[in-house]
Amino acid sequence: MIGLGTSQVFDDISADQRREVVKSLLDTGGTIIDTAPSYGDAENTSGQAVADLNARSKVFFATKVGASSREEGVAQNEASFKKLRTDKIDLIQVHNLRDTATQLGLLRDLKAKGRIRYLGITHFIEGPQEALAEWMGKEPLDFIQLNYSLDVRDPEKRLLPMAADKGIAVLVNLPLGRGRVLNAVKNKPLPGWAADVGVTTWAQLLLKFVVSHPAVTAAIPATRNPTHMRENVIAGQGKVLTAAQRNELIGLFEKA
Ligand SMILES: NC(=O)c1ccc[n+]([C@@H]2O[C@H](COP(=O)([O-])OP(=O)(O)OC[C@H]3O[C@@H](n4cnc5c(N)ncnc54)[C@H](OP(=O)(O)O)[C@@H]3O)[C@@H](O)[C@H]2O)c1
Repeated sequence: MIGLGTSQVFDDISADQRREVVKSLLDTGGTIIDTAPSYGDAENTSGQAVADLNARSKVFFATKVGASSREEGVAQNEASFKKLRTDKIDLIQVHNLRDTATQLGLLRDLKAKGRIRYLGITHFIEGPQEALAEWMGKEPLDFIQLNYSLDVRDPEKRLLPMAADKGIAVLVNLPLGRGRVLNAVKNKPLPGWAADVGVTTWAQLLLKFVVSHPAVTAAIPATRNPTHMRENVIAGQGKVLTAAQRNELIGLFEKA
């Protein structure tokens, strides 16, 4: 239920450290690596790390297409296969709803040819949620990716129930609000029941909050730190939070 986001973090670190982060993801039982052509060199470096570890079969590669035309989309998708060093990509998502109709058409072709397993769309700010809902209503999508965290709970109103209703898998970006929500709560004591749900840190509890929503398939926090990676994957294992525990966290955050 917890994967690895690669935006910003993967360009800052050495190849050795990237391998350590990916090894930590896989050794702890995680599988998803989310990347994009626009994340600096992250598509290439995550592909390299997975190849170095000889771990392609253990990884669910999610990447994106962020193009303005058919030609650009075709070129970007072909480059993704090369950079990720794979013949089959698990998921390609139309990045931030850019040129969605054309790019989804290309992804449908790739899926029909068996070159990708799943297709989807993404966004990360609250404004375009209506547009996400519109595409969910009119296109057969396998995945949506959106931002959801303890302090950004708008998706609970419409998008998450709609995804559950339509059987669309949900990846959550910004589950830690780029560190914002973690900073808001980190000096508070953990709730007394944290150990009962297998949680020892606030980062884990915030991630467990996200993946405890029944419509959420997985969250993809970014990290450059192998210890954080392990900590994050563990947050997706074991018990999920009850409705009462989720409400208690919402109340705590509102007072933070
Ligand atoms: N439109 C889109 O499609 C879109 C938009 C935004 C993001 N995304 C995807 O979603 C991913 C996640 O978003 P994000 O990276 O912006 O935000 P995020 O995951 O909410 O936050 C990442 C930050 O949290 C820190 N962190 C991670 N685990 C931690 C832990 N256990 N303890 C303490 N700090 C921890 C990381 O620092 P450390 O390195 O120190 O761990 C990093 O600074 C991206 O990498 C990308 O793959 C997609």
